[in-house]
Amino acid sequence: MPVLLQKSKVYIETYGCQMNVADSEVVMGILNSQGYAMTQEVREADVVLLNTCSIRDNAEQRIYGRLGNFKALKDKKPEMILGILGCMAERLRKDLIEEKKVVDLVVGPDEYRRLPELIDAAFGGEKGIGVKLSRSETYEDILPFREDGLHAWLSVMRGCDKFCSFCVVPFTRGRERSRSLESIVNEVTLLSSRGFHEVTLLGQNVNSYLDEKNDFADLLNAVASVDRKMRIRFSTSHPQDLSDKLLYTIAENDNLCNYIHLPVQSGSNRILELMNRTYSIEHYLGLIEKAREIIPNVSFTTDIISGFPTETHEDHLATLAVMQKVKYDGAYMFKYSPREGTKAFKMEDDVKEETKSKRLQEIIALQQQISFDLNQILLEKKEIVLVEGASKKSENFLSGRTDANKVVIFPRQENIGEGDYVEVLINRATSATLFGAVVSVLDNKDFSEISLAV
Ligand code: 5AD
Ligand code: SF4
Repeated sequence: MPVLLQKSKVYIETYGCQMNVADSEVVMGILNSQGYAMTQEVREADVVLLNTCSIRDNAEQRIYGRLGNFKALKDKKPEMILGILGCMAERLRKDLIEEKKVVDLVVGPDEYRRLPELIDAAFGGEKGIGVKLSRSETYEDILPFREDGLHAWLSVMRGCDKFCSFCVVPFTRGRERSRSLESIVNEVTLLSSRGFHEVTLLGQNVNSYLDEKNDFADLLNAVASVDRKMRIRFSTSHPQDLSDKLLYTIAENDNLCNYIHLPVQSGSNRILELMNRTYSIEHYLGLIEKAREIIPNVSFTTDIISGFPTETHEDHLATLAVMQKVKYDGAYMFKYSPREGTKAFKMEDDVKEETKSKRLQEIIALQQQISFDLNQILLEKKEIVLVEGASKKSENFLSGRTDANKVVIFPRQENIGEGDYVEVLINRATSATLFGAVVSVLDNKDFSEISLAV
């Protein structure tokens, strides 16, 4: 490798889902092992990479805006390499290089191993395109580049075979494939020895994980036993693959968080069918009920889309009704955005923009009310909190999260720091945040003792 390349600095900006955050760490791991240095300062970078998201049109528009800023930078510094990674690279391919003529590199989610070679070629004046999707690439042998910290993202499977009719992911990320259980356990062991306290296992459909005979419940069991003081989370679960075995596994392991992100998308069976979600709302509610029986205190979050083609006022009311029934701790709520290449793209986007907005506002308002009410129930109760550090608003307060992923703010104490488990008595709650005072410090105890203390 030329001496110049050894010193090249790479700046990477990440958009979209947590999978992209994990992928950027894989990209940095690949480049770092080839002698590239990472920088957080775009002005000193020789290579600028945007890891992009195509899930909705507004995500793409935001990234195009940002690309405009980088183009201005490149005009002043033409030797700088500008590259697009991730879902937009896969979706827009040559358009970005040949028509928009802004970027030097376009590399999709399954071709990151080729980045050093493609960057080399770009330094030599060639345009680099790597957009093939793979049936086997999991990057399981790549050590992601992570700063020391409290929490790590770890992708355990890639791709999606569900083909929900609105979703571009099966086209931009390809078919499902899983990493070996052994490679995941090894990485979690390494993270534990580096002092990480929390790991979130990621996959577009994390609970359809399969490594030979090991399913997702087996994986969770294995990961949970690596370090009982380490909290394990996972996302995203599809209702179709939420097995009883998985629910019992969560119930049996104290360090598996009692928290499931279970996208419902709509409360109307007619819309669910058009969305190709493969479950009825009755089945979905049955799952929630069963999970609540098996895992006491389990909490749920969800994803909801408003204004899918043909959605009527009654369909919308059905969505509000499901929210009332389940009482989600939180929700990610979106307006339907047509994506080229998907099945729904062929349907007329017939719900007026103002109707979509109005319905979305109603969904958001209801969720805020539900979150607020659920949080009021926690007043005067004790919560176990993993301390993350100073609160965003004041150095005099610390912030952490509960098992259910709720943010808790409490006055700073000298004997408490990042990574400690504390018991906090909740004395105030908004829809988004809990406030309280520490009643005891639980660090250096075994996790099972912590749960006995609740
Ligand atoms: N329009 C709106 N929301 C979408 N999502 C996926 N595709 C679309 C789309 N075309 C949402 C779904 C999914 C979440 C990650 O993004 O709710 O669960
Ligand atoms: Fe998209 Fe559906 Fe796959 Fe989720 S399960 S990534 S919404 S196709």
